[in-house]
Amino acid sequence: MDRLIIFDTTLRDGEQAAGGALNISEKLEIARQLERLGVDVIEAGFPCSSPGDFKSVGLIAQEVKTPVVCALARAHPDDIDSAWEAVKEAKRPRIHVFLSASDIHLMYQIKKSREQVLGLARDMVARAKKYTEDVEFSPMDASRTEPQYIYQILATVIEAGATTVNIPDTVGYAVPGEFGSLIEGILQNVPNINRAIVSVHCHDDLGLATANSLEAVRRGARQVECTVNGIGERAGNASLEEVVMTIKTRGDLFKVTTGINTEQIYRASRLVSELTGFPVQPNKAIVGTNAFSHESGIHQDGVIKMPITYEIIDPKTVGIPASSLVLGKLSGRHAFRERLAELGYSLSEEDFSRAFTAFKELADKKKEVTDRDIESLIAQELRTVSEVYHLDCVQVSCGDRGIPTASVRLIGPGGEALADASPGTGPVDAVYKAINRIVGVPNELTEFTIKSVTGGIDAIGEVLIRIESGGATYTGRGADTDVIVASAKAYMNALNRLLTAKKAG
Ligand code: KIV
Ligand code: ZN
Repeated sequence: MDRLIIFDTTLRDGEQAAGGALNISEKLEIARQLERLGVDVIEAGFPCSSPGDFKSVGLIAQEVKTPVVCALARAHPDDIDSAWEAVKEAKRPRIHVFLSASDIHLMYQIKKSREQVLGLARDMVARAKKYTEDVEFSPMDASRTEPQYIYQILATVIEAGATTVNIPDTVGYAVPGEFGSLIEGILQNVPNINRAIVSVHCHDDLGLATANSLEAVRRGARQVECTVNGIGERAGNASLEEVVMTIKTRGDLFKVTTGINTEQIYRASRLVSELTGFPVQPNKAIVGTNAFSHESGIHQDGVIKMPITYEIIDPKTVGIPASSLVLGKLSGRHAFRERLAELGYSLSEEDFSRAFTAFKELADKKKEVTDRDIESLIAQELRTVSEVYHLDCVQVSCGDRGIPTASVRLIGPGGEALADASPGTGPVDAVYKAINRIVGVPNELTEFTIKSVTGGIDAIGEVLIRIESGGATYTGRGADTDVIVASAKAYMNALNRLLTAKKAG
């Protein structure tokens, strides 16, 4: 069987999803999980797009050992040089050059002729090739480009040294039969195609990204570009878990294998969801909370008698924890450590001690601590951004009479206690206004969501917010058994990100 290369672009195209920006430590944490997951290539970012991206690509390049680490670059000398600077420390560096190819893009966006594009593609691939053996080229909007011209571009860039040629369905316009024919046409008509891997990169605007990618594999593509949970620009990209599990489940049709450790899929999905703040829809294939729950009596009866009656994948294969063992206040360090390991966390001793203290505090407030509670607690305790202001305490009075009023106390940058109070239209508004009076950074709240982590009156409430300031969006998360405290924590988390970004310029 051929090996299918899984190229993960969660940290590049995935991060382009509106409101999904990640900070550097979050990107590193996802990169580590992608390595555990066994992806072949991590597209770590687009170094020329911002100093933050440049830095995170560099750190990922230093940290990641097994996968190829790839940096994206426009067909521009500065972009290519900066991609190399960022990725050069990687054990296996790749530069990915892209350039528009369709007449629509040539005419309306980049205002270049086909000949100019051909020349630029050749020269920029040759420039990248001086830095590294491993060069990928993408003719952007390929699915809306005349196939003969795509053949010409690919032959040219392979001649110039491209070792992977990627065919993007940039706007998610293709349908499977047509996209598969494009791939087959490329394999038959590009004379030097045997010197490169053919890759595909499909967007999900018509909900066909996974189907298009898989049809391309059936017709000869040997690299698929995808993202965890299918996140990405607009409607997103092909979802890694769907592509990988279809290939695994229907090996009879695809006759390729991947190097993915499928038991890490669920963990990767949860992590990306927590860090980007994009929830996974309950009916999402493979990783949704309902993906393996059987509701109808007939189905339940079948699954009890023999799971394969209604289950095509054993949930354990994708790493869904087998037991929902519940911990409580009598659970000790050993049980907690075991549960963390089963959930896929490997913490340093110091982080473990912090997490254990937080667990004990939670277990005092909440009778049963479930896996979801633990995930929430880890997110809260170990993924805190460096704090400029720390929330010390919050008090609110509210109800259906009188004006909701909040008082808050923060610990400021110099360790000083800063207190203030404010009325508001509701308790959360009052808390946010009181915090604003102390921090004094103008911003606009653009999103506020609250959900209960588990059922039960003592459940943890998880708050996710997004604030906008100076054209940038900052995400904040907070969790607590008191939803007002969770809301205050989420706001402080977003404000601290904003202040840290401002400080870093
Ligand atoms: O969708 C697209 O065309 C891209 C390219 C940069 C590969 O993301
Ligand atoms: Zn894309």
